[in-house]
Amino acid sequence: MIEKTPTSSTEEPRRDFMTKALAVVVGAIVGLVPIVAGAVTMFDPLIKRRRSVLGTDDDGFLKVTSASSLDSTGAPRMFPVIADLQDAWNKFPNTEIGSVYLWKTSEGEIKAFTSRCPHLGCTVNYKASEKLFGCPCHDSSFNLDGTRNNEIPPRGMDSLDVKEVDGEILVKFQKFRAGIHDRIPV
Ligand code: FES
Repeated sequence: MIEKTPTSSTEEPRRDFMTKALAVVVGAIVGLVPIVAGAVTMFDPLIKRRRSVLGTDDDGFLKVTSASSLDSTGAPRMFPVIADLQDAWNKFPNTEIGSVYLWKTSEGEIKAFTSRCPHLGCTVNYKASEKLFGCPCHDSSFNLDGTRNNEIPPRGMDSLDVKEVDGEILVKFQKFRAGIHDRIPV
């Protein structure tokens, strides 16, 4: 016959306490899982607040206009850049995200510049009579090749990659930080 070892009077309450403590910890973990999952779902869009541009091709080019819309004399013409945007919650169809100057040189090369002045971001106008881009904010001007005519803007106009595909003009639209010498995309 096997004899049972008698348990001490303090061992039983200690085992009870450990069991209850473990149950509390497991219960807390199980209860926290949905709360954490909910918080992640709720705050994830805030983390991903940045809007992405839809409709670009694999290289990031966006259709801006048709080639037939370019000025027939080769003068720069400003075009809005329209795109569908999306953030984590919403879509923003047909949103103007900027504007660009487009023109074709006498050699047939298509050029593109953003219309934002690299000084403080004002919109630059094209002055056909002077064949210059002029910024009205601080009386600066830029040549057709984008170089600046005074030292107020920290750099020349920002050129953009552009291509013609099946009669459409596509631009790799970017914005750059204003007020600094280097071209840093924002
Ligand atoms: S914003 Fe264009 S020169 Fe200042």
